[in-house]
Amino acid sequence: MTDVLETAQTARPDSAESWWRQAAVYQIYPRSFADSNGDGIGDLPGITSRVPYLKQLGVDAVWLSPFYPSELADGGYDVADYRDVDPRLGTLEDFDRMSEELHRAGIRLIVDIVPNHTSDRHVWFQEALASPKGSAARARYIFRDGKGENGELPPSDWTSAFGGPAWHPVGDGQWYFHFFATEQPDLNWDNPEVREDFLTTLRFWSDRGVDGFRIDVAHGLAKKLPDELPSQAELDALPKDGDHPLWDRDDVHDIYAEWRRVFNEYTPARTAVAEAWVAADRRARYASPEGLGQAFNFDLLEADFDAAQFRNIIAFNLELARESGSSTTWVLSNHDVVRHATRYGLPPRGDSTVKQGAAWLLSGGAEPEVDRELGLRRARAATLLELALPGSAYLYQGEELGLPEVADIPAADRQDPAFFRNPGVDIGRDGCRVPLPWAAGGASFGFGAAGAHLPQPAWFADYSVEAEEADADSTLNLYRRALELRSELETEERLEWIETGRGDVLAFRRPNGWISITNFGSAAVALPEGEVLLSSGALDGEALPPAVTAWLRA
Ligand code: NOJ
Repeated sequence: MTDVLETAQTARPDSAESWWRQAAVYQIYPRSFADSNGDGIGDLPGITSRVPYLKQLGVDAVWLSPFYPSELADGGYDVADYRDVDPRLGTLEDFDRMSEELHRAGIRLIVDIVPNHTSDRHVWFQEALASPKGSAARARYIFRDGKGENGELPPSDWTSAFGGPAWHPVGDGQWYFHFFATEQPDLNWDNPEVREDFLTTLRFWSDRGVDGFRIDVAHGLAKKLPDELPSQAELDALPKDGDHPLWDRDDVHDIYAEWRRVFNEYTPARTAVAEAWVAADRRARYASPEGLGQAFNFDLLEADFDAAQFRNIIAFNLELARESGSSTTWVLSNHDVVRHATRYGLPPRGDSTVKQGAAWLLSGGAEPEVDRELGLRRARAATLLELALPGSAYLYQGEELGLPEVADIPAADRQDPAFFRNPGVDIGRDGCRVPLPWAAGGASFGFGAAGAHLPQPAWFADYSVEAEEADADSTLNLYRRALELRSELETEERLEWIETGRGDVLAFRRPNGWISITNFGSAAVALPEGEVLLSSGALDGEALPPAVTAWLRA
């Protein structure tokens, strides 16, 4: 394995055009961040009120999950109007105020664009339902005649991502395709009107000062359904080589080339990051400067707390970034997966930790199965390692508190369509979306003046911002210190492995001389020479204990 790894960018990352390359981006799930008006739902003024917190945390940008009008069939990823704010979350004026405050604090703003599907409440879909078969209104979506004498059977046996059928009848013999929930009809991206409208949306938010976009299901927009539809089994067996009917088609990049021209109309150019669950060797095109510019790499999120896995993933992704000309993106938690403080505390089950986490939740999420202390210790070590890497780091709200997953949400309180559409198979993602605890007591732990839209457990008090601010060794104070140091780390996107002679210890040096060393093993290891800048847990004299990362200046 090569010892020195670098991306194409060796300049310092401090220009206005390249702010994103090594940014620490904080993901806000708006409904669960801060509630300003006591209705139990987080909102944009709530975010504005917490800008000082974000500034003190030291993030470079925030990414907002959808805040658009939505019936919330999929937590806002069912958008009824792409150019407005959900009245429960505020107004466009509130958006402008929030954007202004963030920018004043030196924090950039990224918003989520959901182009694969709309909400069934979107005016286009309502028009499609009211219009006949073959109409222009239906041509914006994917309608097909049903099978059977009167179209009473679905066009194919395809299943949706959240379980259940992927086709829904509209009552006149036609069915529409929805890869996600029934309330999320897929758009037809062959339709020029659809294409044009999204350019308008990108300009709408760019004109309002948004700095970048996160693109939902970026690999799904372009579709080519043959007249004779394959079965689900046949579909699954088709190679995803650029010509699959649904996924990662080569022609999806024509769409992003058009978007890139829009991004480049602005100074600095607007940025974008693709959520594209594609084979690693097909990620680079999404990340190319002619395309979206950056693509999520979820590899660490899927890995175990294991030195060899981490090393391979880091090496591989820095190489991919070099090929695409982009920087890489590290993610340990987001709104779709079990929080990493919990994942790392689960007993090993020989499969990926994401599946392991899901299995744990499904089995009722019995707490004794989770070693919370170990989970948090490892989570802190993994985060400190992540923050030392070249590339951008995407952090998910609450991880800076070391917040564990909430497993025992009663069925009556659950919201995720994955739970309802797949009974007994998928418990859903509500456990990582529980409103944040800001205070150690009070209604909804300071989230708002009243309750929270998902129930918060009593132990949230221990993880509250208030409790952690008072504790010098808290996870919050670790993140603050790490992000502060990271901002000093402005350096070329390069690392050099330091051979430690141990397979369970990972160490590397950045061009400014800093060293990050992580002990993935079960015995303490000697620290390299140098001044310790920060460590994710207490050191043992000159030794690095298990599940701890240290940063040193050599
Ligand atoms: C990916 C989003 O992250 C997830 O939350 C959502 O359910 C699907 N895309 C569908 O929009």
